[in-house]
Amino acid sequence: MENQDLNTILEENRTFPPSQEFSQKAHISSLEQYQTMYKESTENPEKFWSQVAEELHWFKKWDKVVNSENAPFFKWFENGKTNISYNCLDRHLDSATKNKAAIIWEGEPGEERVLTYQGLAREVQRFSNSLKKLGIKKGDRIAIYLPMIPELAISVLACARIGAIHSVIFAGFSADSIRDRVLDCEANLVITADGGWRRGKMLALKNIVDQALEECPCVKDVLVVRRSEHHNFPHSFQEGRDHWYHDLSQDVSDKCPAEEMDSEDMLFLLYTSGTTGKPKGIIHTTGGYMVYTYLTSKYVFDLKPTDIYWCTADIGWVTGHSYIVYGPLANGATCVMYEGTPNWPDEGRFWNIVQRHQVSIFYTAPTAIRAFMKWGDKWPEKYDLSSLRLLGTVGEPINPEAWIWYNKVIGQERCPIVDTWWQTETGGMMITPLPGCTVTKPGSASLPFFGVDADVLTENKEPTNAGLLAIKKPWPGMLRGIYGDPERYKNTYWSKWPEYYFPGDGAKRDKDGYFWILGRVDDVVNVSGHRIGTAELESVFVEHSSVAESAVVGIKHEIKGQGLIAFVSLKRGIEGTKDLEQELTKWVANKIGKFVVPERIVFSADLPKTRSGKIMRRLLRDIAEGSTLGSVTTLADPSVLDDLKKKYEDED
Ligand code: PRX
Repeated sequence: MENQDLNTILEENRTFPPSQEFSQKAHISSLEQYQTMYKESTENPEKFWSQVAEELHWFKKWDKVVNSENAPFFKWFENGKTNISYNCLDRHLDSATKNKAAIIWEGEPGEERVLTYQGLAREVQRFSNSLKKLGIKKGDRIAIYLPMIPELAISVLACARIGAIHSVIFAGFSADSIRDRVLDCEANLVITADGGWRRGKMLALKNIVDQALEECPCVKDVLVVRRSEHHNFPHSFQEGRDHWYHDLSQDVSDKCPAEEMDSEDMLFLLYTSGTTGKPKGIIHTTGGYMVYTYLTSKYVFDLKPTDIYWCTADIGWVTGHSYIVYGPLANGATCVMYEGTPNWPDEGRFWNIVQRHQVSIFYTAPTAIRAFMKWGDKWPEKYDLSSLRLLGTVGEPINPEAWIWYNKVIGQERCPIVDTWWQTETGGMMITPLPGCTVTKPGSASLPFFGVDADVLTENKEPTNAGLLAIKKPWPGMLRGIYGDPERYKNTYWSKWPEYYFPGDGAKRDKDGYFWILGRVDDVVNVSGHRIGTAELESVFVEHSSVAESAVVGIKHEIKGQGLIAFVSLKRGIEGTKDLEQELTKWVANKIGKFVVPERIVFSADLPKTRSGKIMRRLLRDIAEGSTLGSVTTLADPSVLDDLKKKYEDED
C-alpha cells in the first residue's frame, strides 16, 4: 500500500455507530454483549463452539471440540458425524422454511429461477444420484467449471451430500489453469456447461474444458449442463466421456440420503495463489467449516427469516463458497444469485436487481464499489434502494472515500457497513464489525469475530501497533492443509512464529483496538479482490520463447485496488515491439486467465539485481509508482535503474 494511503487511513477518525433501531432488533445488540461473548469464546472455546454446533444437525455428536495434540494439524468436533448438505437443506424441510425461496437466480439475459428449500433439496438429490450413476463415491475429487447458474450451487451441495470433494474453478480461468488444478488433485470428473453469459456474450466453457482435458488422463467423465438455449451452440462432444446432465438425470430418483461424514472428512479444495509459481489446493473439512460459516453468516449479516440476501461474488472464489452457498443456506436464508456483470445491459443492473428482488443485505467487493462510484450516482439514483438494511465488503482494503460513498449513496446513511477481513484459508470472516453493536470506522475491519484471537506483531513476535497480522488460536473454519503438501502448510502459515497463524497481511491496531488491514506483505497482489502470486505470473512469462527474465509488481490502481506491471527482459536479439507486448498479453490470458493480464509490460535490457543475483522488486515498485527510489546500495549495477526509469516514464 502506498504511504499516502496509509496516511489517509491513519488519519481517518470518523465513526459511525449503528442506529438504535438497527441495534434493538439485531442478534448482537450491544458492545457489552459482544465483549462478554467474545471473552467466553476465547477463554472457553470448547464450551462456546459446542453450543453453536448444537444448533446444527449431527448424526453423531463429537467427542472433543478441538484437538490440538498434533498442531498445526488441528481437529474440530472430533469423531462427530454430520453432513453440510443435510444441514443446508433437509434440516429446513420440517419447518416453514421448506416453502421459502433458498435461491432466487437471475441470468444475465434476464431470466429468473426461484428454488425453494424443498425444490433445491430435490434438485440436489437428483444431482447426487446422477453423480452416483457415473460411479462417483465418497472421497473422489470433482472439478467444477460452471458459470453462475443454479447448477453451480446444486452441484457443490450434491458433492457434499455424497462425500465427494469439490474443487470449483472460477469460470474465468484458462484451459491451462484448469489442467493444473485437475491434475494436482487427480479429479476423475469435471462438471461444466456448454456456455455461460458474460457481458452479452456466451462464453464457450465446454471448449475450454476440452482443451484442458487433452492432458488430464485422470478424468473419466465430463458432465455438461446445458446453459445455451441454442442447442447447436458450438462445442465438441466426446462419446463415452461426455454426458448431458439433462439426459443423465432423466430417470434418476430425487431421493438421496446424505452420507454420514466424519467432521474431519474433506469437504472441498479451493486453489489459491501463494508466493511460489504453483497455486495451492487449500483443504477445508466438514464440521468446523460448517459451524463457522453458519455462525459468521448469522451474526455478521444479522440474518433474519425475512431477509433477501445478496452476495455478488462468484462461487468460483471462497466468498461464494462460504457466503452464497454454505453459510446462508445453513441459516435457511434466501439468497439472490446473479450470473453476469454489473454493467450489463447498463451500469444500473445491480440496483435494478436490488429494487426488483427487494434485497435487504448486500455484500460486495471494494473494487465493485469504486467502479460504481466512477459510473456515477445517477445509476443508483434511478432505483428504489429502500429495501437495503445492511451492506458489506470483502476481498481487499476499502479506501475511506469508497466507504463513505457506499454509506451515503447506496446505504443512504441508514445501513451499517461490515468490512469483513478473511481469506480462502480462514474459511470464514475473522475480523469484522457486528452490525448491531460495532461503531464502524471507514477503512477498518474493526474487531475480531468470536473465537478469533488476533494480534499485530513484529517479525520477532513482539506486540506492536503497526506490523504483521497474527492469529493465535485455532478456529473451526481454518484450513486443514494444502493438498498433497503438509510441509508447505506448516511452513507457509505456522512457521513465522510458533503457535501463531500467519495470514500474510500487514495491519495496524489503533487505540480502540481496531484492526486496519494494510494489504499483503508477501509477493501476492490483490487485483480486483483476486489474489495473484507475482511468481506465478513471472513463471508464465519465462515460459515464452522470447523472454529471458521477468519481474512482476503490484501498483495502486484506482478501480482494481492494485494492478500489475510486468518488467520483462528479452532473449538476445529479440526486440520489444508492440506486437510482442500484445502477444505476451494474450499468452498470460491463455495461460492463467484474462483477469490477471498486467496493465503494462515494460521491456528492458536488464533488471535491477543485488550482487547475489536477486531481483529487487522493491525498486521496480518504486519506478512503477513514480515514488522516490529506495536504497540502491546493494545493487550490482545501479545504471540499470536509470535506464529502466527513463524507459518507464517515456512510454507512459
Ligand atoms: O490481503 C487480504 C485481502 O484478501 C486476502 C485474501 O484473499 P482471498 O483468499 O482471495 O480471499 C478473499 C475473500 C475472503 C487477504 O489476505 N482481504 C480480504 N478481505 C479484506 C482484505 N484486505 C483488507 N480488508 C478486507 N476486508
